[in-house]
Amino acid sequence: MADATKKAFVTGHPVKHSRSPKIHGHWLARHGIDGSYQAIDVAPENFADFVKTLQANGYRGGNVTIPHKEAAFALAERRDQAAQEIGAVNTLWFEDGVLWGGNTDAHGFAANLDDHAPGWASEGPAVVLGAGGASRAVIHALKERGVADIRIVNRTLARAIELSDRFGAGVSAHGMAVTSELLGDAGLLINTTALGMHGNEGLSADPALLPDHAIVTDIVYVPLETPLLAAARARKLKTVDGLGMLLHQAVPGFERWFGVRPQVTAELRALIVADL
Ligand code: ATR
Repeated sequence: MADATKKAFVTGHPVKHSRSPKIHGHWLARHGIDGSYQAIDVAPENFADFVKTLQANGYRGGNVTIPHKEAAFALAERRDQAAQEIGAVNTLWFEDGVLWGGNTDAHGFAANLDDHAPGWASEGPAVVLGAGGASRAVIHALKERGVADIRIVNRTLARAIELSDRFGAGVSAHGMAVTSELLGDAGLLINTTALGMHGNEGLSADPALLPDHAIVTDIVYVPLETPLLAAARARKLKTVDGLGMLLHQAVPGFERWFGVRPQVTAELRALIVADL
């Protein structure tokens, strides 16, 4: 009977802090599925071999996290449109024996805002802090939802320019010095850098400069209320924390491997919050 167990994984290096096993474990139990979801630490030099043996080892697929997202992109035989545009893969699955790579971070970002700030995409220009991998997923989501004016602000201007070139019309690049000028008419402020995790020194965006209707969100979820969100709340702006993005990005993978579309519930959120 062991062969009937549906197997999936999360791999990273390190991977022991991943919350994904808890999320997927909760859904497996809730839906009574004979399945498993394990964290597997794979060093970069072994990642290609790990991927090549997935099917032989009975895996239906899994999640890929730092530092393997670009390698997974290269190894996938086919990729969904989000992965193609973001340039990184966080979800792998097999379809008719073919290894597919997808990126569900953009979905996670948009679905989190849909839950907590419906109508977010029509609030006006979006200011995105950061120009790394997470920023690419956020910009993809913003473009997909029709946000017409996306302003990337980054410490290293060259990386912001690289992204604005990549995403094309409606996406502009800016250095930190001009952040205040960009906030006055912005409807959304999104932090995609890890700065909020350890205080916000260097994060030169003051929510006090935003208009009253603006929404502020952070993809960092440790702590749940980052210094940026605290400042926005003090200014009485709508804030959305990053935990929902983590929970929602897990949904499409679970559905592909286990055949059920799971829900992001208050119960699941509380389970993960208890562990932060
Ligand atoms: P991720 O894939 O998680 O987005 P990343 O690709 O390493 O990670 O990108 C990190 C982002 O945080 C970058 O935008 C980075 O700015 P630089 O491109 O100038 O490096 C930003 N960042 C990290 N530390 C920072 C700091 N101390 N001050 C300002 N920005 C910082």
